Amino acid sequence: MSLLIKNATIVNADAQFTADILCRDGLITEIGPDLSAPADSEIIDATGKLVFPGFIDPHVHIYLPFMGTFSKDDYVTGSKAALMGGTTTLIEMCCPSRSDDPREAIRLWKSKAAGISSCDYTFHMGVTRFDDGTADALKAIVAEEGITSFKVFLAYKGAFGIEDTELYQTLSLAKELGVVVTAHCENADLVSETQKKLVAEGKTGPEWHEPSRPITVEAEGCHHLMTFAELTGAEVYVVHTSCIPAVEAIVDARKRGVKAWIETVAPYLTLDSSYAELPDFEGAKYVMSPPIRAKEHGDFLWKCIADGTVDTVGTDHAPFDFSPQKHMGHPDTAKCVDANGQPSGKAGNFTLIPNGIPSVEERVKLLYSEGVRGGKIDLQTLVRCASTQAAKIFGLYPRKGVIAVGSDADIVIWDPQWSGKISAAIHSMATDYSAFEGREIQGRAELVTLRGKIMVRDGQWTGETGWGNFLHREPKS
Ligand code: URP
Ligand code: ZN
Ligand code: ZN
Repeated sequence: MSLLIKNATIVNADAQFTADILCRDGLITEIGPDLSAPADSEIIDATGKLVFPGFIDPHVHIYLPFMGTFSKDDYVTGSKAALMGGTTTLIEMCCPSRSDDPREAIRLWKSKAAGISSCDYTFHMGVTRFDDGTADALKAIVAEEGITSFKVFLAYKGAFGIEDTELYQTLSLAKELGVVVTAHCENADLVSETQKKLVAEGKTGPEWHEPSRPITVEAEGCHHLMTFAELTGAEVYVVHTSCIPAVEAIVDARKRGVKAWIETVAPYLTLDSSYAELPDFEGAKYVMSPPIRAKEHGDFLWKCIADGTVDTVGTDHAPFDFSPQKHMGHPDTAKCVDANGQPSGKAGNFTLIPNGIPSVEERVKLLYSEGVRGGKIDLQTLVRCASTQAAKIFGLYPRKGVIAVGSDADIVIWDPQWSGKISAAIHSMATDYSAFEGREIQGRAELVTLRGKIMVRDGQWTGETGWGNFLHREPKS
């Protein structure tokens, strides 16, 4: 079965032009004017629509054991939500605990997706410990498991966080293997000391989450990583960069020759710190780390996307229900629960609220509606930051991230005229809330193909659970 898309206004990161697109056997086989349809073709007329390469989310959590609970989506819901929003490839963080064996961990994470993911996917391998066996395990994961990016956490001491010696060893090995190291940059000790101080002062509500991890703490984390990258020569990618001084620390390091990529995520661009101050514990819905900052930081990040300083926009999709999960940190004893939703019998505080915001479904809508239609970025920048650049950095290009002959037929036909509202009542994610409830949106993914198969049509799900493939990657030579 072939698919012929007629009259497509194709938007790639480096060009915009009108042509027809022929897809056969999962690939884009021809692009040009007036293509004729093979006998077995379905013909779609894209007149008046925009046609994008499938979007790539370089930072999601689908299976995440974290803060005493588990993220709410699985690959059935998470990958469907991604596709409904125009995202055809997910890069998930594989986050083992310090006591887990890395090879078993990557196999576990793969098993959570295999056979049930509707979209294509790969993983960043979390390095949460570095001891005698780690180098061999990581070498095997790169050589045999098709993984070419690592993930380290400078935050979350006692959970995923690593020590400086481990960071040095991870970066040195990454340099040797030609893999990129993605990093969550916050100074863990400063976070835990500030958290203790605030809680001791009775400052326990969700609005204290941001002050417990201020911008200086994130900037220090970035500077710290940059120093290690400079010494080891490793290529690094800072995930979920939220604020001006963090970007500045990375830009400074770039000037010293450090190869450093910058990711920000949709919540930092479209929400601000006032959301965590909402009454009745509603602020807990907006607790993620690094925290959502004052609006000036979001405004700055938009400018950095437009001028190319920021490379990618992901989501850091980390879905937890408002009730009961976020209530694990409710400061009122009567409302604070354990992971099973049972009364905990004691008062919680913001440090116990599972960190994370569900957003895999909404990223492209928000970038288009508030970024492109809001006059902050142009269409090609949208494609660059939400698809092409992630494909290039993480070894998926030109299989993914571009509409070109030979690329996978991952195509998003975007209706720029559509308008509607975001709501948990209609989203495909498993969470009981949306951080963007009621938000007015312009434009949506009307038709989405993954390797030539129509997964979304007229904005409705037509996909097949399990159609997604694991994307085997090769290290940069
Ligand atoms: O708050 C967040 N970001 N939760 C997910 C884990 C992480 O740090 O990426
Ligand atoms: Zn993180
Ligand atoms: Zn994350």
